[in-house]
Formats: sequence, structure tokens, C-alpha cells
Amino acid sequence: MRKIVIAGNWKMYKTQSEAKTFFSEFPTHLKATAPQAAVFDRQILICVPYTNLSLLQTVVPAIGHANLHIGAQNVHWSENGAFTGEISAPMLVELGIKYAIVGHSERRQFFGETDETVNKRLKAAQAYGITPILCVGESKQQRDTNETESWIFSQLAADLVDVDQNNLIIAYEPIWAIGTGDTCAANEANRVIGLIRGRLTNPNVTIQYGGSVKSDNIDEIMSQPEIDGVLVGGASLDPAGFARIVNYH
Ligand code: 13P
Repeated sequence: MRKIVIAGNWKMYKTQSEAKTFFSEFPTHLKATAPQAAVFDRQILICVPYTNLSLLQTVVPAIGHANLHIGAQNVHWSENGAFTGEISAPMLVELGIKYAIVGHSERRQFFGETDETVNKRLKAAQAYGITPILCVGESKQQRDTNETESWIFSQLAADLVDVDQNNLIIAYEPIWAIGTGDTCAANEANRVIGLIRGRLTNPNVTIQYGGSVKSDNIDEIMSQPEIDGVLVGGASLDPAGFARIVNYH
């Protein structure tokens, strides 16, 4: 059975006080638009800046929602060392963090992450029992020159060397759809995610779509058979909007 995971990526947004305000409102909105069959069949994950992790690991359990988790936005491959600005897996484990995004396109684009460092980060997370969310996706230029498939297959081949596919989430995030409002058509996202699944040794890996997911396109995205969830940037910052996304119908 493939797990459904609806995830937010707050990126570099929200101070601690803003994060507290979000979580004081989010649970009320969750209840307000809950689907008819109130059985909660989906995991909710919000990946926050490091400065919010410790605080939210006390705030979120108090909400009493068994499927609501907090995650990190990256993890280093070493346990410790002279790596200014980085955070290690044992540091996350001490806070009870079980998920971390790895290889987001913004990390690759602005911070020089390569498939090699992404692969090392994935393995380090898994070694500590953290489930990494591996992000892959093509640029606008690659899409326009019909390189989408070959690019994503090469990312997967390099990123997944010796990675345990039983403790992994993948997010297909076309770069041109991130933060642009230009969502990938749901059937096209479904097609690419099907191709990604075809390259895996474990077909039950949860594969999400990410890129301009909003409360008004979530229902169509989640109706696609290959799509097991979403990774939401901008629209995860608003408690009412993100609750509606979590409560897709
Ligand atoms: P937006 O939802 O803001 O397009 O961002 C997507 C993303 O990068 C999630 O990781």
C-alpha cells in the first residue's frame, strides 16, 4: 500500500512566533473542511526552518493529531564536523524529527548541491531512521527541448545509488512550476510520476507532485492514480489554505 503524504515546505519563511500562530489556527481549519469520510487516510508533514524545529516538537504533539509531523528541509551527510551552517542527522533525531527534504531544486540551484551530495545526504538520513524526501525535476529549457525524461532518469540513477527504497519519498517538482503559478497539468504530472515509478525497485514508494499546488487545484492533482501526495511551498504558509489542501476531496 502506498502512503499518502501531504507535505508543506515553508522554505525560509516564519519566525517562531509566526510558526506558533500558524499552529494555533491550523487545527481548527483542518476540522472545518474535513472530507465526509472523516477517516484520516493521509499523513500531514510540514518542513520548517531549523530554528522552528525544537519549538514545534513541543507545540505540535499538544495538538493531538496522530498523523501530523514536523520535518527538516535538509540534512548533512556527516554526524558532526567543521561544516559551518549545516545540521546533522543525529541533531534531528534528538528532536524526534523523522522526515527531511533532500535535493530540493533551490538547494541544487543556489547552494551548489550535486547528485553526489544529494546521494550522501539521503544515505545519512536513512542511517538514522529519517525518511528523506528526494526532489527531482526538470528546468523549463529541459522541458522545451524534450529532455524531461532523460534528465529525471539521470537524477534518479545518481541520487539513488545504495539508497533504501523502503524508507524513501520522492517529490517530482518541475522547476518551471515552482513559485510561478504555472502548475504542471495533473495528467502530465501523473505521466512523469508513472515513469519515475517505473525506474524504482520498490513500486510502493510514495511519489508526490510539487509546483504551484493550491487549494483550487489539489482535488484534481490528487485524483490522479500515480500521485501519492504533494509538496507545497507558498500555499503551505496559510493555515486555512493548507488545511484545505490537506483535506483534498
Ligand atoms: P510552490 O508551491 O510555492 O510552487 O513551491 C513548491 C516547492 O518548491 C515545494 O518544495
